[in-house]
Amino acid sequence: MCGIVGYVGSREATEVVVGGLQRLEYRGYDSAGIAIFDPDCGLQLRRSVGKLHNLVLRLGQEPVTGRVGLGHTRWATHGNVTEENAHPHRDASGRIVVIQNGIVENYLELKGRLLELGYHFHSQTDTEVIAHLVGHYYREEEALEPAMRRAMAELRGGNAVVAFCVDEPDRLIAARLGNAGGVVIGAAAGETFIASDVPAILDYTREMIFLEDRELAVITRQGAAITTLNGAPVTRRPVSVPWDPVSAARGDYKHFMQKEIHEQPRALMDVLRGRIDQEAGQVHLEDLRLDDAALRQVERIYATACGTAWHAGLVAKFMIESLARVRVEVDYASEFRYRSPVLGSDALLLAITQSGETVDTLAAMEEARAQGVPSVAIVNAIGSQAARVADGGPLYLHAGPEIGVASTKAFTSMLVAAYLFALRLGQARGTLRPAQIREHLQALVELPGKAATVIERALPICEDLAEHYYRASDALFLGRQVNYPIALEGALKLKEISYIHAEGYPAGEMKHGPIALIDEAMPVVCIAPRDAIYEKMISNIEQVRARHGHVIAIGTEGDTLLASKADHVIEVPPTLPLLQPVLTVIPLQIFAYYMALRRGCDVDQPRNLAKSVTVE
Ligand code: F6R
Repeated sequence: MCGIVGYVGSREATEVVVGGLQRLEYRGYDSAGIAIFDPDCGLQLRRSVGKLHNLVLRLGQEPVTGRVGLGHTRWATHGNVTEENAHPHRDASGRIVVIQNGIVENYLELKGRLLELGYHFHSQTDTEVIAHLVGHYYREEEALEPAMRRAMAELRGGNAVVAFCVDEPDRLIAARLGNAGGVVIGAAAGETFIASDVPAILDYTREMIFLEDRELAVITRQGAAITTLNGAPVTRRPVSVPWDPVSAARGDYKHFMQKEIHEQPRALMDVLRGRIDQEAGQVHLEDLRLDDAALRQVERIYATACGTAWHAGLVAKFMIESLARVRVEVDYASEFRYRSPVLGSDALLLAITQSGETVDTLAAMEEARAQGVPSVAIVNAIGSQAARVADGGPLYLHAGPEIGVASTKAFTSMLVAAYLFALRLGQARGTLRPAQIREHLQALVELPGKAATVIERALPICEDLAEHYYRASDALFLGRQVNYPIALEGALKLKEISYIHAEGYPAGEMKHGPIALIDEAMPVVCIAPRDAIYEKMISNIEQVRARHGHVIAIGTEGDTLLASKADHVIEVPPTLPLLQPVLTVIPLQIFAYYMALRRGCDVDQPRNLAKSVTVE
């Protein structure tokens, strides 16, 4: 949440900063602002309410110039969406500017103290408190770096902060406290970039250094000097990020979500690449730091995640329990630590996160570490915090950057990564013989092609469905067993981008309440592939029909019975039962996409949302 970009070098800083913010706008789009410094023009600040586009228009009318600067795109936490509350914020002297991602939990207390000292506030934000605090200590220290150290020492909560002072125009100072989202630094010849996420600076370098909790970096043209907040030097080698700038661009697609839906066949190949040996019937997970002996000791897994990734955790439970015979509990990461979980010495935490920066998921990992339980992270963002702190190793999705706020390709890749993990666990624990693993691997390698078929088939049908149903005010999604989490995911996709109220339910539960909602105005999406509980699902569909609900069914190719019961059918190819969700979810993503489009909603940047939820 909130995007941060900074630059020191010899290019026009506005281009780098605004270009970077464009790549980060998915992190927040309530307002945007930049501060650029030039020795002749001084410190030039421009801020605008709303999307970045408004700032770009403003910059067209009131251009700025300079070789050093910083910028911010905001997801509002403290204070309304107003220009006064937009970042950057200035200190009392107007010579220091600050941008921040995170929440200063003790800001009221700090603000009270600063008010007593005679400081005036122009915004309702917690960020302005940081600006005044840094300015206050600057007056004593006469240098930005020690002033930042003293200010950071007083903040509570997860915070990433970047500051600039006109009296030290060759540098930016960045600091990180807790899990406030990433701070990534990229150095090239004679210029240095800083951002909250990799895509912002991918055009310039792929060699990235990630700032850790309680570290501070002095950013100059020569690179970054990193120390702990207490001043101890830190040596860190850059990580080479294998993403290219094209992967972070929208290309010919109208929306990132559309592009990412289409990228799924490739992403499903990439998550498998180099990890399976079909001949030997084995799975190799290169980054996993748990050997066979350690995997054999695991008797309980806690899958923790948020939102869509939590739905992946629900599916992972089926996969792991069935293939490796290990008990799995699935927790919302935002609840996990608050229920004082009793984990046990035979436990493993499985964190699932696209961004690797979701604050609650990171806190769940911390809770596990505190109890001596190792974590494995199924994670997409290379070098992200979750990938770094997973002592059992990251299991990378290799899905490439996901920019659309509604997660699509990361979700299907998570399902396949979880399947690989379940197979690897079963392999170590001897619950699966190589011949069985071979069968699973065969089904996995066929998945990308099948996903491509589903996309092709679902696109025209969903476009028509949207025309038919876009006025609906509610929708129900029903599924059973491993497709119940897919019902939840379908409902989440629809509500988050089209603002239609939608609920996902296990179909068997419908009779215990939600059936009262069904009438002739209600589209009911039923996920009904031919599996062990197919017949029960057909009975549930009959019950919907009897109440005049409109049935949109996702079923197996050639299922004429289902076709005779439903108003509309989208067919998916058959696969192994536990892999069905990878295919059944794709029509639901496409349905949500077209519904949102038809309703005129902003597909990539839905209201109130942001990608990478770095605040609690
Ligand atoms: C919904 C969506 C969110 C995320 C959730 C967790 O489409 O994308 O629900 O799944 O915010 O994010 P990560 O996976 O980055 O931890």
